[in-house]
Amino acid sequence: MAAALGDPVRHALESVLDDVRDRTDGAVADYIPELAKVDPDRLGAALASTHGIVHEAGDVEAEFTIQSVSKPFVFALAVDALGLAEVTKHVDLEPSGEPFNAISLDEASGRPRNPMINAGAIVMTSLMAGDTADAKFDAVRAGIERFAGRDLRVDEDVYSSEASTGDRNRALAYLTRSAGTLGSAVDVATLAYFRQCSISVNARDLAIMAATFATGGVNPVTRERVISEDAARWTTAVMTSCGMYDESGDWMVRVGLPAKSGVGGGIAAVQPGQFGIGTFSPRLDARGNSVRGVATLELLSQRHGLHMLQHHGAPLSPIASLTRDDADGGETVAVLRGEILFSEAEEVLTRLAPLVGDHGCLVLDFTAVTRVAAGSRKIFSALPETMGSLADGRPRVEVRDPDGVLAAPVG
Ligand code: DON
Repeated sequence: MAAALGDPVRHALESVLDDVRDRTDGAVADYIPELAKVDPDRLGAALASTHGIVHEAGDVEAEFTIQSVSKPFVFALAVDALGLAEVTKHVDLEPSGEPFNAISLDEASGRPRNPMINAGAIVMTSLMAGDTADAKFDAVRAGIERFAGRDLRVDEDVYSSEASTGDRNRALAYLTRSAGTLGSAVDVATLAYFRQCSISVNARDLAIMAATFATGGVNPVTRERVISEDAARWTTAVMTSCGMYDESGDWMVRVGLPAKSGVGGGIAAVQPGQFGIGTFSPRLDARGNSVRGVATLELLSQRHGLHMLQHHGAPLSPIASLTRDDADGGETVAVLRGEILFSEAEEVLTRLAPLVGDHGCLVLDFTAVTRVAAGSRKIFSALPETMGSLADGRPRVEVRDPDGVLAAPVG
């Protein structure tokens, strides 16, 4: 069956790659000499769903160094291990609107503007467990491997090239060290950071890594929880505001997917709750973002309505049916359906509460409800009090919830 139908998602990816393939503008990064040796014509994209299905098109197996795409994953590992309060003593969370290697430190606190620029990313690496560069890098690699769901190697040539040309990054590290925000000696942080940037990945890895944010922290292929839901949400938020450097605002308007680019040519993009996408194409624009990666994600987003703020039309009412017994003390039975998030809870309660007389009974039937968000449950649990205060009498509420969806809210 699957073979006969083919893979329509793969087809959608292939069709977008075909449309961007002739974009040969931009140039491969050469400020790290070894990066200039990459084949500039490589082009690949993969999409990993939160169900763990991976769709691939083009050069998805071609390896390249992760570079700055590592930054959100290391930030996620740091906030997961240390908590947001501790991490934000070391780094701010504000878009800098500046290039990735800018000297972008808060004047008063000395904290780098955000963890997606080099200064902030080096500080995040310095917060990893261990006292040596090797130990910190081992923590980084082990974490990134859990995001990718496989063992990853370091491109030693890129690492040597990066380490021997990395004076600007060392300078940034010294500045953060003198401001008191670096969590280790300069060499420890920068050598671990250079190795971190030199980890070899492919577009498929980036899709699965991004999808791990989309699921709220669980790798959808290996099913392993990599980070907490909080850490996944915080990181996706930082990618939203800062992931594409000084192109972040424009990107959010045109593409609308939290994302992170790297000078190796990779981009990882997240649609929370739905999927992760990884793209690879080495030629970069003036801001250090892959030209065809940006074009691929922009086209995919436009063609398939993937913008995270896309309006999908009026949602289905959560009230599937309503039966009323108008007699004093009679029942109003509402059969609810689907997902009950905040706005569905608001609709159910504001529409139904006035229908119940002073002595009536509101029966809420949750049998066909698939999920109740934690915040909505709080609203339902306050219902008896609010109904009591709406009327002089004490109308009753009865809940039919055979599967216990109210007792086990999600989110
Ligand atoms: O810090 C550097 O210079 C690089 N190794 C990583 C920078 C990077 O990927 C910037 N992204 N667009």
